Amino acid sequence: MSNEEILTLKAEAQRKPIGVFDSGVGGLTVLRELYRQLPNESIIYFADTARLPYGNRSREEILQFGREILSWMVQQDVKMVVVACNTTDALALSTLREEFNLPILGLILPGARAAVQKGSRLGVIATPATAASNAYRHAILEIEPTAQVWQVGCPEFVPLIEQNRLYDPYTKEVAQQYLAPLIDQRIDTLIYGCTHYPHLSPVLRELLPLHIWLVDPAEHVVTATAQELDLIREKNTFPPLPTRFYVSGCPEQFAKLSIEWLGFTPAVEKIYLPPVALSPLVSLESVD
Ligand code: DGL
Repeated sequence: MSNEEILTLKAEAQRKPIGVFDSGVGGLTVLRELYRQLPNESIIYFADTARLPYGNRSREEILQFGREILSWMVQQDVKMVVVACNTTDALALSTLREEFNLPILGLILPGARAAVQKGSRLGVIATPATAASNAYRHAILEIEPTAQVWQVGCPEFVPLIEQNRLYDPYTKEVAQQYLAPLIDQRIDTLIYGCTHYPHLSPVLRELLPLHIWLVDPAEHVVTATAQELDLIREKNTFPPLPTRFYVSGCPEQFAKLSIEWLGFTPAVEKIYLPPVALSPLVSLESVD
């Protein structure tokens, strides 16, 4: 292969989009960080709005959804995937990484790394599935065995955010109940263990004592993404294409809800994800 041909191939690889997905508008907190830290990247965003919330679902369901989304993203020719959903990270990321041959980044490890730099009494607010999986506790203790971790599952937050009820007094009441046990434990750091929750930051900040650090793993997964792109020499140096938004549910509803957080009206397309067959690995696991 000539030098010229190699350069053309490299340029093609760089230009490929990054795939980002979540159950809904939560992943927009990651998308915002991508725009901030990696403004040259083209992005494909998928929100599985027909099946949200993910946070009450089983590992089998989350894994199956992850497979369908990743198979579709591979067809879209993405160069890597950022899983902008802690629930998928907690329940399915390690299996998805074994099954798909492209870099797949998750939030939990970068979030845990950032949190132990800030404090030693760490609170995590997350979906019930993420909290029950103990994924944050395990990740944190592996990095810093002396840290103390308290995790609270917050089942009402995602539906309230998806219904745009951020400033509803009821949301504040619910938030107060979720945060109370963490404040009682005198946490010094709070991790947003679900990508939807930074949308609630004005409400949460009002309720939390001022000295508590807030860690948003979105910021740190994007830093990790930038490092990975440097490592594989696929950081885009060309002008990016506009972000393409896809949903499994109602495109108008997603567009309407996103405007405030994106600062523009996204063009959103509805897609149907074909089911993928279970791999032998999973069939074996489900026999146990
Ligand atoms: N935003 C996702 C997360 O980080 C999923 C929330 C949900 O659908 O319950 O966990």
